[in-house]
Amino acid sequence: MNEREYLLEQKPFIPFSRPWIDETEIEAVSQVLESKWISTGARVREFERAFAEFLGVKHAIAVSSCTAALHLSLVVAGIGVDDEVITTPYTFTATAEAIRYVGARPVFVDINPETLNIDITKIESAITARTKAIMPVHIAGLPCDMEALQEICHRHNLVLIDDAAHAIPTEYKGQYIGNIGDLSAFSFYANKNMTTGEGGMITTNDGTHAETLRTMRLHGIDKDAWARQSKRSIWRYDITSEGYKYNMTDIQAAMGLCQLMKLNKQHERRRKFAEIYNTELQKFAQIHTPFVSENANEHAWHLYIIKLQSGNRDDFVESLREENIECSVHYIPLHLFEFYQKRYGYNVGDFPKAETVFEQVVSLPLHPGLTESDVSIVIDTIGTVLES
Ligand SMILES: Cc1ncc(COP(=O)(O)O)c(C=O)c1O
Repeated sequence: MNEREYLLEQKPFIPFSRPWIDETEIEAVSQVLESKWISTGARVREFERAFAEFLGVKHAIAVSSCTAALHLSLVVAGIGVDDEVITTPYTFTATAEAIRYVGARPVFVDINPETLNIDITKIESAITARTKAIMPVHIAGLPCDMEALQEICHRHNLVLIDDAAHAIPTEYKGQYIGNIGDLSAFSFYANKNMTTGEGGMITTNDGTHAETLRTMRLHGIDKDAWARQSKRSIWRYDITSEGYKYNMTDIQAAMGLCQLMKLNKQHERRRKFAEIYNTELQKFAQIHTPFVSENANEHAWHLYIIKLQSGNRDDFVESLREENIECSVHYIPLHLFEFYQKRYGYNVGDFPKAETVFEQVVSLPLHPGLTESDVSIVIDTIGTVLES
């Protein structure tokens, strides 16, 4: 081992993200396994009730992923073949993928380079007779301007389905995201602010939609196995709507309940680390820290995305990796991918703001398992890397 390898071995590895799991989740999942009722049942219902209560929304429908939540939301909103849905190119592919599932076209609108969210001022010029919905994404956990979006949707008779994969808990003007759009889709994927391994949730205040969604997520069957349990003809059911295999299991829901209980605590830790980054990174002229809204909004701090004002982003990420600090890049704009170019005719240059931002962004480690000392190491190492 040479000297450098030795020194690196002494340095802690700081992961980009880690789920915050302890004995509570292990115990809750074990109880479900011991109960032998491991698919959709009482825990899922409890999780749905607790999630809805947390957000103050009327209905929460647990599903197998946020992608499934987006898909079902589009189906229940009646969006289908040849319709258009306005969204952002600066997101994970799942957002636009769900639009494709229903045969509609994702119509991208460039972003505001400060907030990284869809540029509201450019939406109206993208609306056509085929436009049926707007699907904004609250990137990193920063809320989109929901009032402005609602106003546009109202004026053009469009459905507002927000991709809230990053937005728990995000507040917009004192209300939680998940209680504002017509339908909101959350993710409980492994790296999200709360996780069930894989999982998702749809929230809505529309009771008719909620009922249809509950049926559609499990093959369109009118009652799930848990509900049939208590009945005499346990085997009898009807198929009352089109169906999908998108149900959540009690194993996942048991974990979700524990994660929900810890949500505020983990958010406090994320916010504390984000605040340290915000303050300390000011000393580096080459670094632009994330936009912080003044509108009584609460950022979920799912991601901490900086923009490099000079130097090569890829080299920067690699240099940090060599120092045992794991970073990531969010996002490669969707119109730069081969599939989106071939299928929808998008090209390089179509969304210049998203492209410029993509060349600059770096997501720094941010998760509740970090310590203040880890955050200091990241900041100091950034200083060293920028100097060199
Ligand atoms: C913005 C966004 N939307 C949707 C998804 C899809 O979430 P899931 O993996 O739960 O389907 C993700 C996942 O990372 C995401 O980041």
